[in-house]
Amino acid sequence: MRTKFVAGNWKMNKNAAETHDLLSMLVGGLDAIHTVERVVCPPFTSLMAAAEMLNGTGIGLGAQNMHWEEKGAFTGEVAPGMVKELCGYIILGHSERRAYFGETDETVNKKLLAAQKAWLTPIVCVGETLAQYEAGETAQVVASQTRLGLQGVSSEFAPRIVVAYEPVWAIGTGKASSAENAQSVHSGIIRPILTDMFGAETAQSIRVLYGGSVTAANAVDFFSQPDIDGALVGGASLKADEFLSIARVAAQ
Ligand code: PGA
Repeated sequence: MRTKFVAGNWKMNKNAAETHDLLSMLVGGLDAIHTVERVVCPPFTSLMAAAEMLNGTGIGLGAQNMHWEEKGAFTGEVAPGMVKELCGYIILGHSERRAYFGETDETVNKKLLAAQKAWLTPIVCVGETLAQYEAGETAQVVASQTRLGLQGVSSEFAPRIVVAYEPVWAIGTGKASSAENAQSVHSGIIRPILTDMFGAETAQSIRVLYGGSVTAANAVDFFSQPDIDGALVGGASLKADEFLSIARVAAQ
């Protein structure tokens, strides 16, 4: 049995004071849901405030991006070791980073290998664009993003990886994928690639999340699918009651 996993991707929202306010409403309720792995991912400048509030709770903290180098002349970047000072988790290869900031499968892979070295739990995002979906290219795109993004990972680290299938057309649009479609991508595309790369036992232990317009209302459909092990939640993670409801559904 894979432990369900619910992560909030706050994107570029919530400064330190707002982070404090949102977490004040979230921490007690979220901390009580022991059977689900719960993580929040605020912007870099809010991580310190969040780390203080999450200290001593069972709630994990993640960053939304990092560089793969350990230090050096990379203006504006943050190193894995710096993330590790505050966080246990790191989102890698989110489609917004791929679309707006030039991330490729190659840079995602470099970051993943850096996460392995720093022993950060990565949430690796894959997913097809609307054009690719309409052209029937979902399987090809998701398979190659998964394979290229995850290559070279050690067998010790592989079970720690969390994969998030986020069809780009479903992110922030209010038009979530159907649960059946997500299940078929998870079981028919992602899990077989993981099996091929790491063997059946490891592939069965890797959590594969769905992301894209997840709400408290549709979470139950997703979480009742056998290969959907949780959710990466954007917009709905900015509302305490909504995110708490999603985490509670995951615990059912
Ligand atoms: P959304 O975002 O829930 O707002 O669609 C999901 C994500 O980008 O991770």
